[in-house]
Amino acid sequence: MLLSVPGAGCARHAVIEPPPSGRHIASRSLDLGAAVQAQPLLTDPAYARAVARYFTVVTTENALKFGPLRPSRERFDFTDADAIVDFAAAHGLGVRGHTLVWKRQLPSWLVEGRFTRDTLIAILRDHIHSVVGRYRGRIAAWDVVNEGLRDSLRAGADALRPTIWRRTIGPEYVELAFRFAHEADPDARLFYNEAGAEGRGARSDAVYVLLRDLLRRNVPVDGVGMQVHSGLHRPPDTAAIAWNMRRLAALGLEVQITEMDVGVTDAGGTAEERLDRQAEVYRGVLATCLAEPACTALATWGVSDRYTWRYPDTPLLLDREYRPKPAYRAIAELLGATAPAGP
Ligand code: G3I
Repeated sequence: MLLSVPGAGCARHAVIEPPPSGRHIASRSLDLGAAVQAQPLLTDPAYARAVARYFTVVTTENALKFGPLRPSRERFDFTDADAIVDFAAAHGLGVRGHTLVWKRQLPSWLVEGRFTRDTLIAILRDHIHSVVGRYRGRIAAWDVVNEGLRDSLRAGADALRPTIWRRTIGPEYVELAFRFAHEADPDARLFYNEAGAEGRGARSDAVYVLLRDLLRRNVPVDGVGMQVHSGLHRPPDTAAIAWNMRRLAALGLEVQITEMDVGVTDAGGTAEERLDRQAEVYRGVLATCLAEPACTALATWGVSDRYTWRYPDTPLLLDREYRPKPAYRAIAELLGATAPAGP
């Protein structure tokens, strides 16, 4: 029997079975998500079952990135993205669109195009209107700009990464991207998504300042994505994350954990000990999200260890046979329910 997880998108069903004690599912509004790939979704029934059974929202891992979508300036290939969005609709799952503007996975025609500023702005507008417009009402949230910060920040220097967007259009590409996305779907929630900017430090300060300034200019930004790619050797500082969530929430922003995974191969101990420590890391981050009303989702970057981008590491909630690991049970327990035995 499937239960809807209250607040995790009303009609959506999660994997989570009723706890033996009959304890109520946490009434807090929170989505449990995973990044999905079209190919296994269409060809691996166990993968598809796990997506529908264990999660309430899916993120398009690669299907909605510029390069996979746009092999040429004239042609869009929505095949994979449609497959994911259609699957989500058929199973009552929410969808996060990842990502409209990024430094990576760009098509060669764009990278080598040597476009003028006005032409690249027109390309950006056309791209965002075409993609966000196509899924209007079907994709509830977008990572509009992903990882816009330099890898290393210097005090007083420009924090934005010198991508084609920044170099050709200027720093205002960020504002333009959000405005174009809002024009295309005024009801979609628009996120800025960043890596390594969850806790205290120059990166989270740079994200805070970037978003504060965008909001001051009435740019339609709704939330911040904290990726939380982590490992047992460097577990997230949940106190710092809580502090950062609070200041972002004070700006009126929603916060989501968008790409969480917890690597274990770099740690000592027995396999069982590493699984338990991994579970504690997930539990700690989820508890931090649950404690912050502005935090509305925890999404992992992948469905199971079989398809993680960090292969052969095993950083996710489900093992390579799609069985819930201690980490999944820790999350289910915190959400007030009990995960089923296996796929
Ligand atoms: O689809 C092609 C395939 O046709 C080709 O045969 C194959 C070999 O060249 O490559 C395939 O594309 C790969 C793509 O994943 C789909 O599998 C790309 O080479 C590969 O670079 C790409 O990696 C993705 C990576 O972003 C790109 O930087 C990962 O799957 C994806 O999980 C990862 O996700 C990022 C988020 O978008 C942003 N945050 C960090 C996160 C991890 O890097």
